[in-house]
Amino acid sequence: MGNTQKGRQKKMKILNFGSLNLDYTYQLPHIVMPGETITSLDLQVYPGGKGLNQSVALAKAGANVYHAGLIGADGDLLRKTCEQSGVDTTFLRECETRSGNAIIQVDENGQNSIILYPGANRQITKEFVDEVLGEFQEGDVLLLQNEINELPYIMEQAYEKGMKIVLNPSPFDDALRLCNMESVSLFLVNEVEGFQMTGEKEPKEIIRKMHEMYPYAEVVLTLGSKGALFAGKEEICEQPIFSVKAVDTTGAGDTFTGYFVTAYYEGKEPKEALRLAAMASAIAVTRKGAAVAVPMRDEVMQKLG
Ligand code: RIB
Repeated sequence: MGNTQKGRQKKMKILNFGSLNLDYTYQLPHIVMPGETITSLDLQVYPGGKGLNQSVALAKAGANVYHAGLIGADGDLLRKTCEQSGVDTTFLRECETRSGNAIIQVDENGQNSIILYPGANRQITKEFVDEVLGEFQEGDVLLLQNEINELPYIMEQAYEKGMKIVLNPSPFDDALRLCNMESVSLFLVNEVEGFQMTGEKEPKEIIRKMHEMYPYAEVVLTLGSKGALFAGKEEICEQPIFSVKAVDTTGAGDTFTGYFVTAYYEGKEPKEALRLAAMASAIAVTRKGAAVAVPMRDEVMQKLG
């Protein structure tokens, strides 16, 4: 067993404390410009939210995942999507605020532009956090994104328990500066978030600075069409993208995260975990929607040959 495999095991419990959104997805010839009005070619309502998408990807990749979060009375589609994908919904609760939603524009090249309405995602209370974390233990994995409130408290409490914290700081905003980033074991960031965290633009510089700032953390940096790289404490490895014709890139990063985290924490070498994640997200972008586009692991394995 290599060093990177120490402390990782098969079928560990993964708690994803995250958002769930109804994605109002408009198909457009191009992303609307300031002052412009355009008629959409299509409108679909998909289950989404970075949290939900990542939970679905974790489950489809084979992880033992629990999703904690809040939905409103309008959140049936979100609950059903989790259940049907194999996500444990014991900690998915309904509150009086409407579910979070996103207005998503998708253009002819599959590129998107997103407006978020947080809704129920920002009604998390410390009591709810305590109740959820009470069911998890030292060594369990906690995955977080930045679409819910109480992140600093969740991180602080989970760290005290000895959980391994994985952070996808997306979307990046000032609220994250209140979090104790030193408690994070693994960051998954794209180039923009890498720049927002470090002030550096070059991938190697982002990695160097991240390691300087958080010497105990491992980093996955995704680089769009240039692939992705993993920087552990002792090794760096790279993975190019699998080239496909994109139809909708919404949730591609979430698919990548769910697959990487599953494979990595079940004990795969980082290079192999990156390869699985890259193929899963390549398949996802050939399909419309976010969570509904995430492939099952069998399909990913088949494509990898
Ligand atoms: O990462 C994609 C997701 O971002 C969408 O599903 C949308 O809900 C927003 O949270």
